[in-house]
Amino acid sequence: MRIDETAVPERAPVSAAVVRSLDHVGQLTGLDLVATPLARLVRAFPLGRFRDIAHGLPLGHPLHPALVLLPLGSWLSAAALDTVPGTRRPARFLVGAGVLTAAPAAVTGWLDWAELHAEQRRTGLVHAVAGSAATALYAASWVERGRGRTVRAKALGFLGLAAAGAGGMMGGHLAYRQGAGTNKAASVAHLVADRWYPVGQLEDFPVGRAVRRMAGEVPVLVVREADGRMLALADRCSHLAGPLSDGRIFAGCVQCPWHASVFRLTDGAVVRGPATAPQPSFRVTVRPGGEVCVAPSDTV
Ligand code: FES
Repeated sequence: MRIDETAVPERAPVSAAVVRSLDHVGQLTGLDLVATPLARLVRAFPLGRFRDIAHGLPLGHPLHPALVLLPLGSWLSAAALDTVPGTRRPARFLVGAGVLTAAPAAVTGWLDWAELHAEQRRTGLVHAVAGSAATALYAASWVERGRGRTVRAKALGFLGLAAAGAGGMMGGHLAYRQGAGTNKAASVAHLVADRWYPVGQLEDFPVGRAVRRMAGEVPVLVVREADGRMLALADRCSHLAGPLSDGRIFAGCVQCPWHASVFRLTDGAVVRGPATAPQPSFRVTVRPGGEVCVAPSDTV
C-alpha cells in the first residue's frame, strides 16, 4: 500500500505522551523496594493446584481479566443508577457486589503479577494500588449509603470509579504494551511453513538433553528420549518467552527456567503454570542417513 507522505504528522499525537508516561512507570526502579519482596512473598504461599486454577490454566488464558469485569460492571452500573432518582437500594447493592467480587479479581491478579518481569511488576504494582484504592472508596461509599449520607456516598463512588478507570488503563498498558498475560508462542503458527525443516544429524541429539535448533525463523527445542522417540516444541515459552532449551527435562516434560512452567513434550500441553497457553509442538522424523527433520504439528 502506498503511503501519502504529506499525510504523515510531524509530531507524535498527545496520546503518545500519555503512553510514554505510562512507560515511565515501568522504569521506576524505586518501586522494586516494595515489588521484589512482595512478589517473593506471593510466590511462597503454599496454594498447591489452586495457584494454577487462579492463573487460568483450565481456561487456557489468564483468569484475572475475566474476573475484573465483575466489580467494574457492578460499579459502572451503580454509577449510572446514581444519576437516576429513587434508585438508592439497587445502587447500594451493586456497590457492595463490586466490593465483594473485587476480592477474587485481586487474588488472581496478585498471583499473575508475582510471575512477571521487573518492569511489568512496577506497572502492575501501580495498577494494583489503583484497584485497591477503588475498592476502598467503594467500600466507604457502601457504608455511607447505609447511613443515608447519599451525597457523600455518591461522591465516594465516583472517586472510586475514577481510580478504577486509572487502574484499568494501567492494566491495559501492562497487557498490550508490556505483553503481560499474552501468549508469547502465538506467532509460531504464522512463522513456520507446513514442511520439514532439517535440524541436524541424530548423533547431535544426546539422550535426555534439550537441544536448540532453528525451524526457519523459529527456535525449536528437540529432545531425544531414552526409548528412541524424538520430540520437539517451540523453544520460546508461551508465558514470557523464556528459553525452554535451558530448562529441566524430566518425566516427559520440560520446565521453563524463568518461572517454572511445565509443558508436556509430546504435545506441548501445560502441566503447571504460570503459563496458560500450550507450547506449539512439532513432528519429528529421522531420514535414512540420520538426518533429523521437524515439521509443525496440528497443535502449532
Ligand atoms: S517465561 Fe515464565 S514460565 Fe516460561
